[in-house]
Amino acid sequence: MDPIARVIAREVLDSRGDPTVEVEVHCASGACGSAIVPAGASTGRAEARELRDGDSARYGGRGVRRAVHHVREVLGPAVLGCDPTEQSAIDQRLRELDGTPSKERLGANAILGVSLAVAHAAAASRRLPLFVHLHQLWCGLLARQPHPADAGVLAPRLPLPMTNMISGGLHAGGNLDFQDFMALPTGSTDYAQQLEWLVRLSRALSRLLSDMGHEGRLVADEGGFGPRLPNHAAALEVLTRAIERAGLRPAADVQLAIDVAATHFYRDGTYVLTAEGQTHATAEQMIDRLDALSRAFPVASIEDGLAEDDWLGWQQLTRRLGHRVQLVGDDLFATNPARLLEGIRRQAANAVLVKLNQIGTLSETLELMCLAHRAGYRRVVSARSGETEDTTIADLAVATAAEQIKIGAVQRSERLAKYNRLLRIAELLEAAA
Ligand code: PGA
Ligand code: ZN
Repeated sequence: MDPIARVIAREVLDSRGDPTVEVEVHCASGACGSAIVPAGASTGRAEARELRDGDSARYGGRGVRRAVHHVREVLGPAVLGCDPTEQSAIDQRLRELDGTPSKERLGANAILGVSLAVAHAAAASRRLPLFVHLHQLWCGLLARQPHPADAGVLAPRLPLPMTNMISGGLHAGGNLDFQDFMALPTGSTDYAQQLEWLVRLSRALSRLLSDMGHEGRLVADEGGFGPRLPNHAAALEVLTRAIERAGLRPAADVQLAIDVAATHFYRDGTYVLTAEGQTHATAEQMIDRLDALSRAFPVASIEDGLAEDDWLGWQQLTRRLGHRVQLVGDDLFATNPARLLEGIRRQAANAVLVKLNQIGTLSETLELMCLAHRAGYRRVVSARSGETEDTTIADLAVATAAEQIKIGAVQRSERLAKYNRLLRIAELLEAAA
Protein backbone atom coordinates (compact mmCIF):
# COMPACT_ATOMS: atom_id res chain seq x y z
CA MET A 1 0.00 0.00 0.00
CA ASP A 2 0.98 3.58 -0.72
CA PRO A 3 -0.49 5.61 2.17
CA ILE A 4 -1.84 9.13 1.82
CA ALA A 5 0.88 11.49 3.04
CA ARG A 6 -0.43 14.98 2.29
CA VAL A 7 -3.70 16.67 1.37
CA ILE A 8 -3.74 20.16 -0.10
CA ALA A 9 -6.80 22.31 -0.83
CA ARG A 10 -7.31 25.64 -2.49
CA GLU A 11 -9.96 27.91 -3.93
CA VAL A 12 -9.98 28.09 -7.76
CA LEU A 13 -12.57 29.43 -10.24
CA ASP A 14 -15.21 27.60 -12.30
CA SER A 15 -16.61 28.44 -15.75
CA ARG A 16 -18.96 31.07 -14.30
CA GLY A 17 -16.12 32.75 -12.43
CA ASP A 18 -17.40 31.39 -9.11
CA PRO A 19 -14.91 30.00 -6.60
CA THR A 20 -14.81 26.25 -6.13
CA VAL A 21 -12.74 23.67 -4.24
CA GLU A 22 -9.64 21.98 -5.64
CA VAL A 23 -8.04 19.15 -3.67
CA GLU A 24 -4.68 17.38 -4.16
CA VAL A 25 -3.91 14.07 -2.51
CA HIS A 26 -0.25 13.04 -2.36
CA CYS A 27 0.81 9.49 -1.50
CA ALA A 28 4.00 8.47 0.29
CA SER A 29 5.51 7.30 -3.04
CA GLY A 30 5.06 10.78 -4.50
CA ALA A 31 2.09 9.68 -6.65
CA CYS A 32 -0.52 12.41 -6.61
CA GLY A 33 -4.07 13.02 -7.80
CA SER A 34 -6.26 16.09 -7.86
CA ALA A 35 -9.87 17.00 -8.51
CA ILE A 36 -11.97 20.17 -8.83
CA VAL A 37 -15.62 20.22 -7.74
CA PRO A 38 -18.32 21.55 -10.13
CA ALA A 39 -21.42 23.57 -9.19
CA GLY A 40 -24.99 23.77 -10.52
CA ALA A 41 -27.23 26.79 -11.12
CA SER A 42 -30.48 24.88 -11.28
CA THR A 43 -30.05 22.78 -8.18
CA GLY A 44 -32.63 20.41 -6.77
CA ARG A 45 -33.95 20.59 -3.20
CA ALA A 46 -32.68 17.07 -2.40
CA GLU A 47 -29.08 17.76 -3.37
CA ALA A 48 -26.20 17.64 -0.90
CA ARG A 49 -25.30 21.16 0.24
CA GLU A 50 -22.19 22.92 -0.95
CA LEU A 51 -20.69 25.27 1.61
CA ARG A 52 -20.32 28.93 0.52
CA ASP A 53 -18.76 31.63 2.69
CA GLY A 54 -21.68 34.06 2.48
CA ASP A 55 -19.26 36.99 2.78
CA SER A 56 -20.80 39.45 0.34
CA ALA A 57 -17.53 41.42 0.14
CA ARG A 58 -15.91 38.48 -1.74
CA TYR A 59 -17.36 36.97 -4.93
CA GLY A 60 -20.85 38.04 -3.87
CA GLY A 61 -20.79 35.61 -0.97
CA ARG A 62 -19.83 32.64 -3.15
CA GLY A 63 -16.30 32.13 -1.82
CA VAL A 64 -15.40 28.64 -0.59
CA ARG A 65 -12.68 29.46 1.93
CA ARG A 66 -14.57 27.74 4.74
CA ALA A 67 -14.89 24.54 2.69
CA VAL A 68 -11.18 24.71 1.85
CA HIS A 69 -10.45 25.21 5.55
CA HIS A 70 -12.48 22.07 6.35
CA VAL A 71 -10.38 20.04 3.91
CA ARG A 72 -7.16 21.38 5.41
CA GLU A 73 -8.12 21.05 9.06
CA VAL A 74 -10.65 18.19 9.30
CA LEU A 75 -11.11 15.97 6.22
CA GLY A 76 -7.49 15.93 5.02
CA PRO A 77 -5.94 15.06 8.40
CA ALA A 78 -8.52 12.26 8.82
CA VAL A 79 -7.37 10.41 5.69
CA LEU A 80 -3.61 10.73 6.31
CA GLY A 81 -2.04 7.27 6.45
CA CYS A 82 -5.07 5.64 4.76
CA ASP A 83 -4.76 3.36 1.74
CA PRO A 84 -6.19 5.45 -1.15
CA THR A 85 -7.54 2.33 -2.89
CA GLU A 86 -9.94 1.85 0.06
CA GLN A 87 -12.43 4.29 -1.48
CA SER A 88 -15.57 3.16 0.29
CA ALA A 89 -13.97 3.12 3.76
CA ILE A 90 -12.56 6.59 3.14
CA ASP A 91 -15.89 7.95 1.88
CA GLN A 92 -17.61 6.44 4.90
CA ARG A 93 -15.13 8.22 7.18
CA LEU A 94 -15.71 11.55 5.38
CA ARG A 95 -19.46 11.20 5.82
CA GLU A 96 -19.12 10.37 9.51
CA LEU A 97 -16.94 13.40 10.10
CA ASP A 98 -19.65 15.61 8.61
CA GLY A 99 -22.47 13.80 10.35
CA THR A 100 -25.39 15.46 8.51
CA PRO A 101 -27.50 13.78 5.79
CA SER A 102 -27.00 16.76 3.45
CA LYS A 103 -23.25 17.15 4.15
CA GLU A 104 -23.95 20.76 5.03
CA ARG A 105 -21.66 20.98 8.08
CA LEU A 106 -18.31 20.51 6.35
CA GLY A 107 -19.75 21.07 2.87
CA ALA A 108 -20.48 18.58 0.09
CA ASN A 109 -17.98 20.52 -2.04
CA ALA A 110 -15.21 19.90 0.54
CA ILE A 111 -16.15 16.22 0.92
CA LEU A 112 -16.44 15.50 -2.81
CA GLY A 113 -13.11 17.21 -3.49
CA VAL A 114 -11.35 14.82 -1.10
CA SER A 115 -13.31 11.77 -2.27
CA LEU A 116 -12.41 12.34 -5.94
CA ALA A 117 -8.80 13.37 -5.33
CA VAL A 118 -8.34 10.12 -3.36
CA ALA A 119 -9.51 8.11 -6.41
CA HIS A 120 -7.16 10.05 -8.68
CA ALA A 121 -4.26 9.47 -6.26
CA ALA A 122 -5.03 5.74 -6.06
CA ALA A 123 -5.01 5.50 -9.85
CA ALA A 124 -1.72 7.41 -10.03
CA SER A 125 -0.18 5.26 -7.33
CA ARG A 126 -1.25 2.13 -9.23
CA ARG A 127 -0.08 3.69 -12.53
CA LEU A 128 -3.49 3.07 -14.05
CA PRO A 129 -5.66 5.42 -16.09
CA LEU A 130 -8.43 6.72 -13.83
CA PHE A 131 -11.16 4.86 -15.70
CA VAL A 132 -9.41 1.53 -15.16
CA HIS A 133 -9.16 2.15 -11.43
CA LEU A 134 -12.80 3.31 -11.28
CA HIS A 135 -13.85 0.28 -13.28
CA GLN A 136 -12.23 -1.96 -10.68
CA LEU A 137 -14.08 -0.13 -7.89
CA TRP A 138 -17.29 -0.57 -9.91
CA CYS A 139 -16.69 -4.31 -10.42
CA GLY A 140 -15.87 -4.66 -6.72
CA LEU A 141 -19.21 -3.09 -5.86
CA LEU A 142 -21.15 -5.32 -8.28
CA ALA A 143 -19.35 -8.42 -7.01
CA ARG A 144 -20.46 -7.76 -3.44
CA GLN A 145 -23.93 -8.94 -4.43
CA PRO A 146 -23.96 -10.69 -7.80
CA HIS A 147 -27.04 -9.99 -9.90
CA PRO A 148 -28.27 -11.41 -13.23
CA ALA A 149 -28.51 -7.93 -14.79
CA ASP A 150 -24.74 -7.51 -14.53
CA ALA A 151 -23.80 -9.79 -17.42
CA GLY A 152 -22.51 -7.70 -20.29
CA VAL A 153 -21.89 -4.48 -18.40
CA LEU A 154 -18.55 -5.46 -17.06
CA ALA A 155 -16.45 -4.01 -19.87
CA PRO A 156 -15.62 -0.27 -19.92
CA ARG A 157 -17.46 1.41 -22.77
CA LEU A 158 -17.74 4.88 -24.28
CA PRO A 159 -21.05 6.64 -23.54
CA LEU A 160 -23.22 8.33 -26.15
CA PRO A 161 -22.87 12.13 -25.84
CA MET A 162 -26.05 14.13 -25.13
CA THR A 163 -24.88 17.52 -26.32
CA ASN A 164 -26.29 20.94 -25.55
CA MET A 165 -27.28 23.09 -28.54
CA ILE A 166 -29.87 25.62 -27.30
CA SER A 167 -30.49 26.76 -23.74
CA GLY A 168 -33.29 28.52 -21.92
CA GLY A 169 -34.47 28.48 -18.32
CA LEU A 170 -31.91 29.34 -15.67
CA HIS A 171 -29.04 28.70 -18.10
CA ALA A 172 -29.73 31.51 -20.56
CA GLY A 173 -31.24 34.96 -20.72
CA GLY A 174 -33.70 34.05 -23.51
CA ASN A 175 -37.37 33.52 -22.97
CA LEU A 176 -37.70 29.72 -23.04
CA ASP A 177 -38.85 27.94 -19.89
CA PHE A 178 -37.28 24.61 -20.83
CA GLN A 179 -33.62 24.60 -19.86
CA ASP A 180 -31.76 22.65 -22.54
CA PHE A 181 -32.31 21.38 -26.08
CA MET A 182 -29.74 18.74 -26.94
CA ALA A 183 -28.59 16.37 -29.68
CA LEU A 184 -27.94 12.62 -29.50
CA PRO A 185 -25.82 11.29 -32.41
CA THR A 186 -27.44 7.86 -32.28
CA GLY A 187 -26.71 7.09 -35.94
CA SER A 188 -23.06 6.29 -35.26
CA THR A 189 -21.35 4.06 -32.73
CA ASP A 190 -17.94 5.64 -33.33
CA TYR A 191 -17.20 8.34 -30.77
CA ALA A 192 -14.84 10.35 -33.02
CA GLN A 193 -17.54 10.36 -35.70
CA GLN A 194 -20.22 11.38 -33.20
CA LEU A 195 -18.07 14.30 -32.10
CA GLU A 196 -17.52 15.47 -35.67
CA TRP A 197 -21.29 15.37 -36.30
CA LEU A 198 -21.95 17.37 -33.14
CA VAL A 199 -19.50 20.11 -34.12
CA ARG A 200 -20.94 20.17 -37.66
CA LEU A 201 -24.45 20.45 -36.23
CA SER A 202 -23.45 23.21 -33.81
CA ARG A 203 -21.94 25.24 -36.69
CA ALA A 204 -24.97 24.68 -38.91
CA LEU A 205 -27.19 25.83 -36.05
CA SER A 206 -25.06 28.92 -35.56
CA ARG A 207 -25.42 29.85 -39.25
CA LEU A 208 -29.13 29.12 -39.24
CA LEU A 209 -29.72 31.31 -36.20
CA SER A 210 -27.74 34.14 -37.86
CA ASP A 211 -29.82 33.80 -41.02
CA MET A 212 -32.94 34.02 -38.88
CA GLY A 213 -31.69 37.33 -37.45
CA HIS A 214 -30.60 36.09 -34.05
CA GLU A 215 -27.47 38.21 -33.96
CA GLY A 216 -25.33 38.20 -30.83
CA ARG A 217 -26.81 34.80 -30.18
CA LEU A 218 -25.78 34.80 -26.52
CA VAL A 219 -23.76 31.94 -25.16
CA ALA A 220 -25.51 30.12 -22.34
CA ASP A 221 -23.95 28.59 -19.21
CA GLU A 222 -23.15 25.28 -20.86
CA GLY A 223 -21.87 26.87 -24.06
CA GLY A 224 -25.06 26.45 -26.13
CA PHE A 225 -26.92 29.24 -27.92
CA GLY A 226 -29.53 31.29 -26.08
CA PRO A 227 -31.69 32.84 -28.82
CA ARG A 228 -35.05 34.46 -28.12
CA LEU A 229 -37.37 31.95 -29.76
CA PRO A 230 -41.16 32.22 -29.62
CA ASN A 231 -41.75 28.84 -27.97
CA HIS A 232 -40.35 25.38 -27.26
CA ALA A 233 -41.55 23.86 -30.53
CA ALA A 234 -39.57 26.57 -32.35
CA ALA A 235 -36.37 25.43 -30.60
CA LEU A 236 -36.94 21.83 -31.68
CA GLU A 237 -37.88 23.01 -35.17
CA VAL A 238 -34.70 25.04 -35.65
CA LEU A 239 -32.61 22.21 -34.27
CA THR A 240 -34.20 19.74 -36.69
CA ARG A 241 -33.52 22.10 -39.58
CA ALA A 242 -29.92 22.50 -38.45
CA ILE A 243 -29.45 18.72 -38.51
CA GLU A 244 -30.58 18.72 -42.16
CA ARG A 245 -28.37 21.71 -42.96
CA ALA A 246 -25.43 19.82 -41.50
CA GLY A 247 -26.06 17.05 -44.06
CA LEU A 248 -27.36 14.66 -41.41
CA ARG A 249 -30.67 12.88 -41.08
CA PRO A 250 -33.00 13.86 -38.21
CA ALA A 251 -33.96 10.73 -36.25
CA ALA A 252 -31.74 8.35 -38.25
CA ASP A 253 -28.44 10.11 -37.48
CA VAL A 254 -29.30 12.57 -34.75
CA GLN A 255 -32.12 12.45 -32.22
CA LEU A 256 -33.13 15.24 -29.88
CA ALA A 257 -33.24 15.48 -26.09
CA ILE A 258 -34.81 18.07 -23.80
CA ASP A 259 -34.03 19.02 -20.21
CA VAL A 260 -37.26 20.68 -19.13
CA ALA A 261 -35.93 21.34 -15.59
CA ALA A 262 -39.58 21.74 -14.61
CA THR A 263 -38.84 22.13 -10.89
CA HIS A 264 -37.74 25.67 -11.65
CA PHE A 265 -41.09 26.86 -12.99
CA TYR A 266 -43.32 24.86 -10.66
CA ARG A 267 -45.23 27.20 -8.33
CA ASP A 268 -47.90 26.14 -5.83
CA GLY A 269 -48.81 22.95 -7.65
CA THR A 270 -48.82 24.32 -11.22
CA TYR A 271 -46.32 24.74 -14.02
CA VAL A 272 -46.00 28.40 -15.00
CA LEU A 273 -44.90 28.67 -18.64
CA THR A 274 -43.84 32.21 -19.51
CA ALA A 275 -42.86 31.27 -23.09
CA GLU A 276 -46.54 30.56 -23.60
CA GLY A 277 -47.79 33.79 -22.03
CA GLN A 278 -47.95 32.92 -18.31
CA THR A 279 -49.94 29.75 -18.90
CA HIS A 280 -50.58 27.72 -15.79
CA ALA A 281 -50.41 24.03 -16.67
CA THR A 282 -51.32 21.01 -14.56
CA ALA A 283 -49.08 17.93 -14.60
CA GLU A 284 -51.49 16.34 -17.04
CA GLN A 285 -51.34 19.32 -19.39
CA MET A 286 -47.53 19.27 -19.17
CA ILE A 287 -47.57 15.59 -20.12
CA ASP A 288 -49.86 16.38 -23.07
CA ARG A 289 -47.39 19.04 -24.25
CA LEU A 290 -44.37 16.72 -23.88
CA ASP A 291 -46.26 13.93 -25.62
CA ALA A 292 -47.09 16.23 -28.55
CA LEU A 293 -43.54 17.63 -28.82
CA SER A 294 -42.01 14.16 -28.76
CA ARG A 295 -44.33 13.06 -31.57
CA ALA A 296 -43.80 16.15 -33.73
CA PHE A 297 -39.98 16.01 -33.44
CA PRO A 298 -37.47 13.17 -33.06
CA VAL A 299 -37.22 13.58 -29.27
CA ALA A 300 -35.72 10.46 -27.70
CA SER A 301 -35.13 11.76 -24.17
CA ILE A 302 -36.89 14.12 -21.76
CA GLU A 303 -35.23 15.10 -18.47
CA ASP A 304 -37.13 16.52 -15.48
CA GLY A 305 -40.34 16.81 -17.50
CA LEU A 306 -42.08 17.42 -14.17
CA ALA A 307 -41.03 18.88 -10.81
CA GLU A 308 -38.87 17.12 -8.21
CA ASP A 309 -41.70 16.39 -5.77
CA ASP A 310 -44.49 15.73 -8.24
CA TRP A 311 -44.26 11.94 -7.79
CA LEU A 312 -47.81 11.26 -8.94
CA GLY A 313 -47.24 13.33 -12.06
CA TRP A 314 -44.02 11.42 -12.74
CA GLN A 315 -45.82 8.09 -12.45
CA GLN A 316 -48.39 9.28 -14.95
CA LEU A 317 -45.70 10.68 -17.27
CA THR A 318 -43.86 7.35 -17.20
CA ARG A 319 -47.03 5.37 -17.90
CA ARG A 320 -47.82 7.57 -20.90
CA LEU A 321 -44.40 8.13 -22.48
CA GLY A 322 -42.02 5.67 -20.81
CA HIS A 323 -42.41 2.95 -23.44
CA ARG A 324 -41.06 5.16 -26.25
CA VAL A 325 -39.13 8.03 -24.65
CA GLN A 326 -36.23 8.01 -22.19
CA LEU A 327 -37.43 9.87 -19.08
CA VAL A 328 -34.50 11.10 -17.01
CA GLY A 329 -34.78 12.08 -13.36
CA ASP A 330 -32.33 14.84 -12.40
CA ASP A 331 -33.78 17.03 -9.61
CA LEU A 332 -36.20 14.14 -9.04
CA PHE A 333 -33.49 11.73 -7.88
CA ALA A 334 -30.63 14.15 -7.10
CA THR A 335 -28.17 11.21 -7.48
CA ASN A 336 -29.54 10.01 -4.15
CA PRO A 337 -29.86 6.20 -3.78
CA ALA A 338 -32.83 6.55 -1.40
CA ARG A 339 -34.74 8.77 -3.84
CA LEU A 340 -33.93 6.47 -6.74
CA LEU A 341 -35.28 3.50 -4.77
CA GLU A 342 -38.49 5.43 -4.23
CA GLY A 343 -38.66 6.08 -7.97
CA ILE A 344 -38.07 2.44 -8.82
CA ARG A 345 -40.80 1.41 -6.36
CA ARG A 346 -43.24 3.87 -7.95
CA GLN A 347 -42.11 3.16 -11.51
CA ALA A 348 -41.32 6.85 -11.99
CA ALA A 349 -38.86 7.69 -14.83
CA ASN A 350 -36.71 5.12 -16.62
CA ALA A 351 -33.31 6.80 -16.46
CA VAL A 352 -31.27 8.75 -13.93
CA LEU A 353 -28.95 11.72 -14.25
CA VAL A 354 -25.71 11.11 -12.35
CA LYS A 355 -23.99 14.17 -10.86
CA LEU A 356 -21.28 13.48 -8.30
CA ASN A 357 -21.79 16.73 -6.43
CA GLN A 358 -25.51 16.11 -5.94
CA ILE A 359 -24.63 13.37 -3.45
CA GLY A 360 -21.07 14.30 -2.48
CA THR A 361 -18.97 11.11 -2.54
CA LEU A 362 -17.74 8.77 -5.25
CA SER A 363 -18.92 5.66 -3.37
CA GLU A 364 -22.52 6.82 -3.03
CA THR A 365 -22.50 7.76 -6.73
CA LEU A 366 -21.34 4.26 -7.69
CA GLU A 367 -23.98 2.78 -5.39
CA LEU A 368 -26.69 4.81 -7.16
CA MET A 369 -25.39 3.71 -10.57
CA CYS A 370 -25.48 0.08 -9.47
CA LEU A 371 -29.10 0.41 -8.26
CA ALA A 372 -30.09 2.11 -11.51
CA HIS A 373 -28.40 -0.44 -13.70
CA ARG A 374 -30.01 -3.35 -11.89
CA ALA A 375 -33.47 -1.80 -12.08
CA GLY A 376 -33.08 -1.28 -15.84
CA TYR A 377 -32.80 2.50 -15.52
CA ARG A 378 -30.38 4.08 -18.00
CA ARG A 379 -27.59 6.20 -16.55
CA VAL A 380 -26.65 9.62 -17.91
CA VAL A 381 -23.45 10.90 -16.27
CA SER A 382 -23.62 14.68 -16.21
CA ALA A 383 -21.52 17.80 -15.84
CA ARG A 384 -22.89 20.88 -14.05
CA SER A 385 -23.46 24.35 -15.45
CA GLY A 386 -20.44 25.54 -13.43
CA GLU A 387 -17.53 23.39 -14.62
CA THR A 388 -13.74 23.35 -14.78
CA GLU A 389 -10.90 21.55 -16.52
CA ASP A 390 -11.59 18.52 -14.30
CA THR A 391 -12.45 15.49 -16.47
CA THR A 392 -13.39 12.89 -13.84
CA ILE A 393 -16.90 12.40 -15.27
CA ALA A 394 -15.51 11.12 -18.59
CA ASP A 395 -13.64 8.36 -16.76
CA LEU A 396 -16.61 7.63 -14.51
CA ALA A 397 -18.96 7.16 -17.46
CA VAL A 398 -16.58 4.79 -19.24
CA ALA A 399 -15.70 2.86 -16.08
CA THR A 400 -19.34 2.11 -15.29
CA ALA A 401 -20.42 1.58 -18.91
CA ALA A 402 -22.98 4.37 -18.50
CA GLU A 403 -25.27 4.67 -21.50
CA GLN A 404 -24.87 8.44 -22.00
CA ILE A 405 -22.84 11.47 -20.93
CA LYS A 406 -24.12 15.05 -20.78
CA ILE A 407 -21.23 17.49 -20.90
CA GLY A 408 -22.75 20.67 -22.38
CA ALA A 409 -21.95 22.22 -25.76
CA VAL A 410 -19.00 21.33 -27.99
CA GLN A 411 -17.55 24.74 -27.16
CA ARG A 412 -15.62 26.23 -24.22
CA SER A 413 -12.64 24.49 -22.72
CA GLU A 414 -14.35 23.28 -19.54
CA ARG A 415 -16.65 21.19 -21.80
CA LEU A 416 -14.06 20.25 -24.44
CA ALA A 417 -11.66 18.98 -21.76
CA LYS A 418 -14.18 16.17 -21.16
CA TYR A 419 -15.00 15.52 -24.83
CA ASN A 420 -11.25 15.36 -25.48
CA ARG A 421 -10.64 13.07 -22.52
CA LEU A 422 -13.12 10.63 -24.09
CA LEU A 423 -11.11 10.74 -27.35
CA ARG A 424 -7.99 9.74 -25.41
CA ILE A 425 -9.84 7.01 -23.53
CA ALA A 426 -11.22 5.69 -26.86
CA GLU A 427 -7.64 5.31 -28.03
CA LEU A 428 -6.64 3.46 -24.85
CA LEU A 429 -9.65 1.14 -25.16
CA GLU A 430 -8.80 0.43 -28.79
CA ALA A 431 -5.18 -0.34 -27.94
CA ALA A 432 -6.31 -2.75 -25.23
CA ALA A 433 -8.85 -4.53 -27.48
P1 PGA B 1 -27.19 22.62 -13.38
O1 PGA B 1 -27.84 22.14 -14.73
O2 PGA B 1 -25.79 22.12 -13.34
O3 PGA B 1 -27.31 24.11 -13.44
O4 PGA B 1 -28.02 22.03 -12.27
C1 PGA B 1 -27.68 20.88 -15.27
C2 PGA B 1 -28.99 20.14 -15.37
O5 PGA B 1 -30.03 20.63 -14.92
O6 PGA B 1 -29.01 19.03 -15.88
ZN1 ZN C 1 -31.32 18.76 -15.46
